[in-house]
Amino acid sequence: MVGDAIGSKLVSLGHKVMMGSRTATNEKAVAWTSRNGNLASNGTFADAAAFGEIIFNCTTGQVSLEALQLAGRENLQGKILVDVANPLDFSKGMPPSLTICNTDSLGEVIQRQFTDVKVVKALNTMNCQLMVNPGLLNDPGNVFICGNDASAKAEVENLLQSFAWERIIDLGDISAARGTEQILPIWIRLMGKLGTPMFNFSIVQ
Ligand SMILES: NC(=O)c1ccc[n+]([C@@H]2O[C@H](COP(=O)([O-])OP(=O)(O)OC[C@H]3O[C@@H](n4cnc5c(N)ncnc54)[C@H](OP(=O)(O)O)[C@@H]3O)[C@@H](O)[C@H]2O)c1
Repeated sequence: MVGDAIGSKLVSLGHKVMMGSRTATNEKAVAWTSRNGNLASNGTFADAAAFGEIIFNCTTGQVSLEALQLAGRENLQGKILVDVANPLDFSKGMPPSLTICNTDSLGEVIQRQFTDVKVVKALNTMNCQLMVNPGLLNDPGNVFICGNDASAKAEVENLLQSFAWERIIDLGDISAARGTEQILPIWIRLMGKLGTPMFNFSIVQ
């Protein structure tokens, strides 16, 4: 869902996008390519990582490291990795728990394991339709980013602005991913209470 939403938005803005998955002929990826025209293509995780200048990790949080290993260290080296994943564990049903939390985060684990990659955590605190279309809400609220590399964050901010995000809060280094991932339990609770995923966090001072 997230890969589809972000990939389609990027194509609509004129970017070339390759959707990666475990197999080059993944049914959902092939369908996404045929819906999105000439700028869209699909391949393995390794194909997509080699193709992209900026990589989006939109995989299930529990398998993100596995997927990034398949993408290949050499294909990711030096690139920006926008990490949208949340380390949610649904194995005991609802509500899910976090597999990594408190003193660590998925964003940090990825950064530690892929030291040559510039990890920027972003967009993981909202529904994917809203990620690419903040105007769906009267008050779109905020989007949070964090990461260790200032130029990578500036580039991601530019991309987010092209998605029409105005209120972007840079929370600092990648350890801030602890907070943006640990916001998920309240997000899930709110979705149940409000009966819709179409809401966001808005910071007021
Ligand atoms: N849905 C949202 O609105 C939303 C919002 C914020 C953050 N997120 C986060 O974004 C991520 C994606 O969410 P989603 O809703 O798009 O989930 P999804 O539709 O289930 O997509 C998950 C992706 O992970 C891949 N995957 C699953 N198991 C895998 C494995 N063992 N090895 C490699 N790849 C595997 C899937 O590939 P296959 O299709 O081949 O199985 C699929 O491409 C999650 O971490 C989620 O927490 C989601």
